[in-house]
Amino acid sequence: MSTSSSSLTIGGALLPERSAIRVSAARRGVRPLVRRYLLPEAAGTAAAVLVGVLVAASGGGWAAAAVAATWAETVAFYAVVGAREWRRQARRSPGRRACSPRTASLVVGELALEFGPGEVLDTTVVRPALMYAGQALLGDMVLGLLAGKLAADVVFYAIAGASVELRAARATRPSAPPAHLRTATERSRRPWRRRGPTTPYLSLDLRAVDAAYDRLVAALPGVRFHYAVKANPHPAVLRRLRDRGCRFEIASLAELRLLRRLGVDARDVLYSNPVKPPGHVAGAFAAGVDRFAADSVWELRKLAATAPGSQVYVRLDVPDPSSVVPLEGKFGVDPGAAVELLLQARRLGLVPYGLTFHVGSQALDPTAYARGVATAGAVMRDLDRHGLRISMLDIGGGLPARYVDDVPPLERYGAVLRDAVARELPYAVDLVAEPGRSLVAEAGTLVSTVIGRAVRRERHWLHLDVGAFNGMMETLETRRTLAYPLRATTQAPDGPVAYDVTGPTCDSEDTMFLGVPLPGNVAPGDRVLIGSAGAYTTAYASRFNGFDLPSTVIVE
Ligand SMILES: Cc1ncc(COP(=O)(O)O)c(C=O)c1O
Repeated sequence: MSTSSSSLTIGGALLPERSAIRVSAARRGVRPLVRRYLLPEAAGTAAAVLVGVLVAASGGGWAAAAVAATWAETVAFYAVVGAREWRRQARRSPGRRACSPRTASLVVGELALEFGPGEVLDTTVVRPALMYAGQALLGDMVLGLLAGKLAADVVFYAIAGASVELRAARATRPSAPPAHLRTATERSRRPWRRRGPTTPYLSLDLRAVDAAYDRLVAALPGVRFHYAVKANPHPAVLRRLRDRGCRFEIASLAELRLLRRLGVDARDVLYSNPVKPPGHVAGAFAAGVDRFAADSVWELRKLAATAPGSQVYVRLDVPDPSSVVPLEGKFGVDPGAAVELLLQARRLGLVPYGLTFHVGSQALDPTAYARGVATAGAVMRDLDRHGLRISMLDIGGGLPARYVDDVPPLERYGAVLRDAVARELPYAVDLVAEPGRSLVAEAGTLVSTVIGRAVRRERHWLHLDVGAFNGMMETLETRRTLAYPLRATTQAPDGPVAYDVTGPTCDSEDTMFLGVPLPGNVAPGDRVLIGSAGAYTTAYASRFNGFDLPSTVIVE
């Protein structure tokens, strides 16, 4: 298991800034450690050697030199670390006097938390003993002090590191409510004692991504898949799909950068957002992307100016009322306009490359794809009359995932597509699809905690730490018609109750589900699991009202 790598969150919980830096340091390498400790270490080492030499020069033995060097190093080290901490505390509270007792106590408290346990052992036993041993073994005072110091540092930082990890783990655990406010469930289960990441988090099973990819490949043979990064751009998902041979579709330059960081070849990437910021086009083109969607003459001119000579595929309007997330007519043109645009592309020095459509997400009617292919076939025949042939048809996304309700088997979509291609297209083209939801939705489970319960106007309300704004936006987008599978970790000895399930914000639009059955004894602190939540959840989430984004926990 690994958690997402936002520097200030671990398992979704906000940590004190300093411990977060050190916890993420474990993942990001030693650079933050070097930045923080190089200067105090240099000061400490210089002081240790100087004082050791002075003690030896005034007739002291190795033991005296070791003790004096230890104390000199400690004083110099904490002088630098303390001064830095003092400046940080003073900056955090500009109104407070820099030399106030409060600042002093904060500085001491911070340093004690960071170094306390290691420091006592270090100064009293470990460092003097190792410095003495170093001199005795090497027979040279300066070299011995330095060798002893390095060995003592290993022990010191191991203890300091362990104490930081411990603090971080504590900070991510829910805190216990006062004893007199605990519910019966809380008393028996002690949820604040629970280990593991803080909720809300998305548990994402890469084996399910593999399985979904294998199902798609089997159901739609001959189709080349470009995963729509927008559905879930977590690097672990992208890496996994890359390793399976899947290609990618992007909607922005930022998505391309994610892929480039994973070593994906930009030439294999489709940029299918029909209207793009010019800077994104230029950046993507410079990186090697040379296939762009368009559905207007303005976009063609933009492409001709910022990605000259690139390949263009035109987006057709193929609406599908059966889609759970319809596209509301935002993109796409009719066949006549598509012909005009591809001819215009050629005049502008672009390469007329292909056609695309998107029937809407979670498309429940396989025949929608047949209509898309038929529309594309009509455009291809018309273009042929103008002496123009294209080489690619992109059927977009839309393939469904299983939520609560059954969906048609993917094989049905494959069969409909095969028939339509054979019947409607005048010549062979490369077939491409851009699945998003169907690859990742079922791999994800959003784990949330119940933060409150209430009865209002005789309806039972359940408040979770995840809501429409910090992850479950599609419940709003689909006007709650997308029914996610819900499960509480509590058993229901007294039968289920119909709950209205809402999120943590102070906004009533945060409500995700109405009248869903969950155990009657669900209480604050219990967990509620939202299934099929791998697509368009973490990718959509906002920090509205200051609530955390769900972190992602990858399950291999
Ligand atoms: C251009 C494009 N391709 C592919 C997709 C992925 O669609 P889905 O998640 O329904 O498979 C989308 C999603 O909106 C899209 O806009």
